[in-house]
Amino acid sequence: MDIVICKDREQAAHMVAGLIDRAIRAKPDTVLGLATGATPILLYKDLIRRHRDEGLDFSRVRTWNLDEYVGLAPTHPASYRFFMNDQLFDHVNIDKANTHVPDGMASDFEAAAAAYEAGIAADGGIDIQVLGIGSDGHIGFNEPTTSLASRTHVQTLMLGTRLDNARLFFGGNLDEVPKRAITMGIGTVLESRTAILMAFGKGKAQAVAAMVEGAISHMTPATALQMHRDAKVFIDEEAASLLKNIDFYRAVYADSPLRALEA
Ligand code: F6R
Repeated sequence: MDIVICKDREQAAHMVAGLIDRAIRAKPDTVLGLATGATPILLYKDLIRRHRDEGLDFSRVRTWNLDEYVGLAPTHPASYRFFMNDQLFDHVNIDKANTHVPDGMASDFEAAAAAYEAGIAADGGIDIQVLGIGSDGHIGFNEPTTSLASRTHVQTLMLGTRLDNARLFFGGNLDEVPKRAITMGIGTVLESRTAILMAFGKGKAQAVAAMVEGAISHMTPATALQMHRDAKVFIDEEAASLLKNIDFYRAVYADSPLRALEA
């Protein structure tokens, strides 16, 4: 696991955008796995800027989002499809037909989940998976006790997750936050070629410490990334504040080619 402790979230967004930018220029039909929520917003702004000012071409890029709330239509302002259109897709030259978000309105979720997995496989698998982390250590919406080998499935959300999301995206109204979501599984995430997790702020420090330094456990689903062949973690100082071996991570980074992304 590469651990990059950034000055601030702007620097993290810049570096991750740089990594995605290089990938797309090298392979124009890059397959991106994307996340929603507060964490990737600056990343998407940076990608939009690169498209607008530096000719970053999304015309052949394909995307697969991590998750969607069960029961929210794509037109619902709190749905993840709405979020993605609003925060990224509407502002770059991506073909919407190449963008995928799980169907929160599916009549048969098992079939929808299987079709989602088959779609990712047909696209050749995910090259770069962008992830945030929940304060309970979830990735995607894989809550504690989800199988670390899980595939796309319907997941019941923990109260803490619903409270976090009520605050950020539902005007504080818990009753409006769906109780379930359809999410890529942890096994799905582990198959991506590169996984990039970003986390910012004190509220993520405990989850980050458990992910990086804790034992692999379904109680902290993000610890599964310890098994990923190429996981990179971009965090700010606050999110890094509970890491015990922080000096070591800084020393490793001092020699890392990832430093080039700071430019
Ligand atoms: C979103 C997702 C979630 C979020 C996590 C952190 O698609 O899969 O795992 O990444 O809940 O959310 P924020 O970024 O809002 O703190």
